[in-house]
Amino acid sequence: MAKSLLLLLGDSSSLTSLAAVLLVLSVRIASAVGGEQPLSKIAIRDAVYVLHENASIRAHPLILGLKGEDTEWVAVDFESPAPAEDDWVAVFSPANFNSSTCPPIDPRQHAPFICSAPIKYKFANESSSYYTKTGNASLEFQLINQRSDFSFALFSGGLSNPKLVAVSNIINFANPKAPLYPRLSQGKSWDEMTVTWTSGYNIDEATPFVEWGVKEQTQTRSPAGTLTFQQNSMCGPPARTVGWRDPGFIHTSFLKDLWPNAKYTYRLGHRLANNSYVWSKLYSFKSSPFPGQDSLQRVVIFGDMGKAERDGSNEYNNYQPGSLNTTDQLIKDLDNIDIVFHIGDITYANGYISQWDQFTSMIEPIASTVPYMIASGNHERDTPGTGSFYDTNDSGGECGVLAETMFYVPAENRAKFWYSTDYGMFHFCIGDSEHDWREGSEQYRFIENCFATADRQKQPWLIFAVHRVLGYSSLAYYSLMGSFEEPMGRDSLQKLWQKYKVDIAFYGHVHNYERTCPIYQNQCVNSEKSHYSGTVNGTIHVVVGGGGCKLSYFSESQPIWSLYRDFDYGFVKLTAFNHSSLLFEYKKSRDGKVYDSFTISRDYRDVLACVHDGCEPTTLAS
Ligand SMILES: [Fe+2]
Repeated sequence: MAKSLLLLLGDSSSLTSLAAVLLVLSVRIASAVGGEQPLSKIAIRDAVYVLHENASIRAHPLILGLKGEDTEWVAVDFESPAPAEDDWVAVFSPANFNSSTCPPIDPRQHAPFICSAPIKYKFANESSSYYTKTGNASLEFQLINQRSDFSFALFSGGLSNPKLVAVSNIINFANPKAPLYPRLSQGKSWDEMTVTWTSGYNIDEATPFVEWGVKEQTQTRSPAGTLTFQQNSMCGPPARTVGWRDPGFIHTSFLKDLWPNAKYTYRLGHRLANNSYVWSKLYSFKSSPFPGQDSLQRVVIFGDMGKAERDGSNEYNNYQPGSLNTTDQLIKDLDNIDIVFHIGDITYANGYISQWDQFTSMIEPIASTVPYMIASGNHERDTPGTGSFYDTNDSGGECGVLAETMFYVPAENRAKFWYSTDYGMFHFCIGDSEHDWREGSEQYRFIENCFATADRQKQPWLIFAVHRVLGYSSLAYYSLMGSFEEPMGRDSLQKLWQKYKVDIAFYGHVHNYERTCPIYQNQCVNSEKSHYSGTVNGTIHVVVGGGGCKLSYFSESQPIWSLYRDFDYGFVKLTAFNHSSLLFEYKKSRDGKVYDSFTISRDYRDVLACVHDGCEPTTLAS
């Protein structure tokens, strides 16, 4: 791209073309990256010490979570003799953040004074505009238990030229190792639920398990496996450098032989060497229906949510402004949701590992109650030279390790993030757009097998989901490219959607909402907009990437196949009432109200019906 830019610059008549290229670039960056990780704006390795005797910073209370809370508000008072508008306060965890904790890899290198990024920050004048006059101010931070102690630092010089002016006292949670942030996922079979959580206990210190059972009946215990990883498991910066933070221990327990649709309670436990126990809060979930079971089933799907801080930290960055609204709407409606799919671009940690704890804390009310199924996106997987299909560093060097460890998915191999899962009358095939999906690839074979194994009499609602748009989107960038999809997106998959009569294909990556007509061979198969019935002869494609990250612009003109577009934050809810009736709703995150919807009404014979060129072979013999 750089070479073509130079060529264009040498030709003044090509200024219009140059503008077009720049527009393409900016649209591409905005859509694919979704803004800049706020922590990456800090030039932390360039920070210098200018500690001042008249500057101070103090945090309280000293001990957090005395009543077992995993989050608490902290007040930070500070004073500077030379206050400036771009002074800022960083939260470090672990509290000791000086360079003694990470000597330079190359001994000839100048040792950095600070070599790990803070976990969050605010500008000093955020709570009081008098700060620049008086030099005194106070800020409030909401901290979560992240297995280590905390300290606060006052910096001058802005984010790009940080000068450390004062360092606070150390504060800590009463039990920093506590088991926290459970996330449920469907197991490999319908009657298995998995619980994954994070703690500070390795297996040589305590034995992890889940105590669980049908509500108000005898509780049993199931063992949990333990995983962790080291800095050298990261593939590049910043995950391998300033973004690195110890992830703790990630445990997964497999709760098996569940009764369909039963209410279970569970709590996380660790048995210490002295036979005492550390317990989490008590949680509950409803087990999955038997595949094919006729009952009310409600599914939520969205992509690209990311996270934000309720205390306003990092607020000048406007990174994932919709994420808290989406989270709050789902929590509000949680009694009416059975399973959630977050189809890629999960945290946008981009190599700043502390953000994964903060994300799992944010979604805890949802993920601890209903299965929280994830797909892998560019911000989870892509790192150059590591086998990701796209050669970008959108994962900030995480190369999939965080997503594949922090969340369980029922994949044969979590490093190849494709899987199928059943939920009653739904059969889901989840793809991995960060690995090759084209005909002949391992993933293509999986997708075909996943579609082929749906018994449509029992599971009429066949759903495909993948992070990038492999189907249809009128994103401005795609339209400038003339593709309306990722390159090679539907070349191979369209014939599978057609052959196996996939009902709906979902995508994220593009941060908006768009719904197509039922499509066969790039054509709308009917002109109906809201009530589909009869023969299944096309797949409806839905972009639902407005989970929270900065929005993406549409093309000016709306293609014929595009029925509804919304430049806003939102998510989709599917309600299967029975084998013949499905309701699709698009809700905005700002108010939880429905802005687009349609229904599908049909019988089994409508799925079997012969359409277009997609008929099963028949014979005249009788
Ligand atoms: Fe993405």
